[in-house]
Amino acid sequence: MNVLLTGGMGYIGSHVAVTLLQAGHRVILYDNLRNSEAGILARIAKITGQTPVFIQADIRATKTLTDTLQQHTVEAVLHFAGLKAVGESAQKPVEYYANNVEGTISLMQAMQEAEVRSLVFSSSATVYGEPRYLPLDEAHPLAATNPYGRSKLHIEEMLRDLSISDPLWRVISLRYFNPAGAHESGLLGEKPVAVPNNLMPYMARVATGELKELSVFGNDYPTPDGTGVRDYIHVMDLAEGHMAALFWLAEHPGWHTLNLGTGQGYSVLEMVAAFAKASGRAVPYRIAPRRKGDVAACYADPEKARRELGWQARRDLAEMCASAWKFQKQLQTG
Ligand code: NAD
Ligand code: UFG
Repeated sequence: MNVLLTGGMGYIGSHVAVTLLQAGHRVILYDNLRNSEAGILARIAKITGQTPVFIQADIRATKTLTDTLQQHTVEAVLHFAGLKAVGESAQKPVEYYANNVEGTISLMQAMQEAEVRSLVFSSSATVYGEPRYLPLDEAHPLAATNPYGRSKLHIEEMLRDLSISDPLWRVISLRYFNPAGAHESGLLGEKPVAVPNNLMPYMARVATGELKELSVFGNDYPTPDGTGVRDYIHVMDLAEGHMAALFWLAEHPGWHTLNLGTGQGYSVLEMVAAFAKASGRAVPYRIAPRRKGDVAACYADPEKARRELGWQARRDLAEMCASAWKFQKQLQTG
């Protein structure tokens, strides 16, 4: 299958690209490199022995996107391109809506023009807002607590309207829980350009000594050890989930939503212990005030994905930490 990945040079997209290439698919990466770098292409090639087509452009360049879809006879799109920092979205809401919402409108227009009607969208568990019950299933009410989350909700609504308007469309919104870890080669992983916001890349830099200590945001939540609980999912499991969703979609027209998580929650302190064990390094931390907008606990009911796709996460927390650490060391040594 010929598959176009918007944002395909980013953290999740690059891992999905490897999985698709290794399964014999043709991959076209479309990315403006706003939060990634051209060197990713060589790393993908080193792992897979194949260099995918790469188009450096913005998804809002509708004509370029349409031409790319047509020239490469694309059959399906995986839509990763987007800005994703929750805190930054509250400071720059217009930029987030322009990039994420306007970008997706441009993608829908290009796909309509090129008559490509299969789409897998990168959504997030953030669309469930403050959990009313746990684990979170796909029927949980939707809410957003910040502009980033609202951009995901707006996009889901637009895509649902599009799917309803024309029965030829098939669209699936994958609601990721907390992606973590890296490719086993240590060549691909999460490399934030600035100081990381997310727990795993932050811990990795504390373990190397680049950052002094981890601030644990709150230890007075109603969780077993008082720190926040999340459903961390290995990025390669996530990648396999995308491939399963892509083929499932071929048999299922219409609009669909699906959680990609493990169903297992870990606290921040459990994560610190697991990372220290995997790296053999200390991860110094101090307890800091709660971070605005954080919820106490958030984990998936992964049953629908298991039932529909026959997919479930296979890799455990130790593998997430070990692979993230391997990638971090490789970054240091170049
Ligand atoms: P990332 O920043 O590593 O990758 C996104 C890629 O999109 C980058 O390479 C960036 O350069 C590109 N991009 C951004 N705007 C673009 C535009 N206008 N045109 C072309 N390219 C553009 O992020 P990621 O972690 O790989 O996330 C991928 C998707 O998954 C995002 O939509 C994100 O919101 C979603 N998601 C991520 C997480 C997470 O924790 N990583 C959780 C839930 C959902
Ligand atoms: N945490 C710390 N210290 C840090 C960073 C995080 O204690 O320096 C804690 C947080 O308070 C939270 C947990 O670690 O309890 C996980 O935090 P992350 O920032 O890694 O992840 P979030 O759960 O806040 O959000 C992530 C993505 C969102 C996505 C969401 C989906 O950043 O884009 O998962 O569940 F929407």
